[in-house]
Amino acid sequence: MSLLVAPSLLSANFAHLRLDIEMINRSKADWVHLDIMDGVYVPNISFGFPVIEAVAAMTKKPLDFHLMITRPEKFISRLQAIGTYMMNVHYETCPHLHRTLQEIKAAGMKAGVTLNPHMPVSLLEDILPEVDMVLIMSVNPGFGGQKFIPQSLEKIAQLKEMILRKNLSTLIEIDGGINLETAPLAVKAGADILVCGHSVFTSENPEETIALMKAL
Ligand code: DX5
Ligand code: ZN
Repeated sequence: MSLLVAPSLLSANFAHLRLDIEMINRSKADWVHLDIMDGVYVPNISFGFPVIEAVAAMTKKPLDFHLMITRPEKFISRLQAIGTYMMNVHYETCPHLHRTLQEIKAAGMKAGVTLNPHMPVSLLEDILPEVDMVLIMSVNPGFGGQKFIPQSLEKIAQLKEMILRKNLSTLIEIDGGINLETAPLAVKAGADILVCGHSVFTSENPEETIALMKAL
């Protein structure tokens, strides 16, 4: 599979969100990454359904939801209703993760699971066959513009090995501190999807930065 690029709207300019979404629509980005934070699971709040619905109406790319919230299963039907492609939940926010993944897929969405920097990939040994995508956090969740944690590369490699050993097609997404220096390392380790917020939206030419990531 060719490398996918998913710009994170968290670093967009919310005073002119339409312009930033139109840029993503024009660009070579594959997905749009939406970071939803509840101020409980992570120490920050991002945006909720009024903004989500406006974004969904404007964007032409598949919606990649990264839910940094407690009890994400409460929102399966609302995310389904706006045409979500990927619904991605943090491992420890789902006491019944197997059931939640089944419910996400039954609603017609792809199901993702996220691991924080301190969490070993071995946690996924039993659940991996049910998972369409694993997101490896390469920063602690809650904020854009943080520094890439280098140990994430070893985790990508370990996860890739587990996916191949089990003969699965689970995708690996890497999120946090991805820029034109760290992205090639993540790709080499086995990442399939690059999430990039700060590096795209602080670039003088965001479309070109997306194209450069895509060409790695
Ligand atoms: C952080 C979010 C990320 C964030 C990445 O909790 O999950 O998606 O937007 O931003 P950068 O690319 O700026 O590290
Ligand atoms: Zn994210």
